[in-house]
Amino acid sequence: MAKKKAVQDFIQMKQSGEKIAYLTSYDYPSAYLAERAGMDMLLVGDSLGMVVLGYSTTVPVTMEEMIIHAQAVRRGAPHTFIIGDMPFMSYQESVAQAVHNAGRFYKEAEVDAVKLEGGRRVADRIKGIVESGMSVMGHIGLTPQSSGQLGGFKVQGRTAESAWEMILDAQAVEEAGAFSLLLEAIPPEVGKAITESVKIPTLGIGAGGYCDGQVLIISDMLGIFEAFTPKFVKRYANLGELMFKAFSEYIADVKARKFPEEKHTYRMPPEELERFKEMLG
Ligand code: KIV
Repeated sequence: MAKKKAVQDFIQMKQSGEKIAYLTSYDYPSAYLAERAGMDMLLVGDSLGMVVLGYSTTVPVTMEEMIIHAQAVRRGAPHTFIIGDMPFMSYQESVAQAVHNAGRFYKEAEVDAVKLEGGRRVADRIKGIVESGMSVMGHIGLTPQSSGQLGGFKVQGRTAESAWEMILDAQAVEEAGAFSLLLEAIPPEVGKAITESVKIPTLGIGAGGYCDGQVLIISDMLGIFEAFTPKFVKRYANLGELMFKAFSEYIADVKARKFPEEKHTYRMPPEELERFKEMLG
């Protein structure tokens, strides 16, 4: 079992050029397998709302839902660096609210860091959480919690001005004390410029290959979320098809009385069976 990585290891990986492999997870079995495979970090993302709970956006997700899933992920991956994603309205109101909810993730789900969306406008909240002794990953570019303001789930930073604004956001997140920064849905040139403008590692999702690491949403990469598939997804398996086939075969077996078979049943000892038959008359 590899040693659990810490914040310093990720900074070191950026410096040495070793790419960081990062994935979302929402449950015990996927966390267990990701740890066995050697994943560097796991995100209990608020994408949970869309890919597991069936909401149409991440906005309805609550701290309670996030904590339950983060606890399961921690049980599945006790030796992996786990990040809890702060859901909408768990940090927007004030620094005190942000510190309180980051603290809940730490105390109730034993995460190693929290993530929150936004650049300069959340710098005071990042600073507050870091000054309370916790680690923060920033998240800029496409920020799904404010997708309404951004005009939907759209690529960001396509004009020179908006790309420049993003560099200022990245630097503000670093100055506030974040240990890393997630970049979502931006042109690769912008991902490169941001990665070069900060000392903390950048983790890209649709932000090009120059970022210090890559993150994918587990349901996208395994093919079990069919509502939509962003361009940045690489599908590594089609578990959706396998699950559909398995469900269909199971239904057919039950209807045709092919399941359960003798090997799936628990028999009584013969003498007990005899006595039981007598009782039944
Ligand atoms: O919630 C999430 O899964 C995210 C992704 C962009 C990685 O933040």
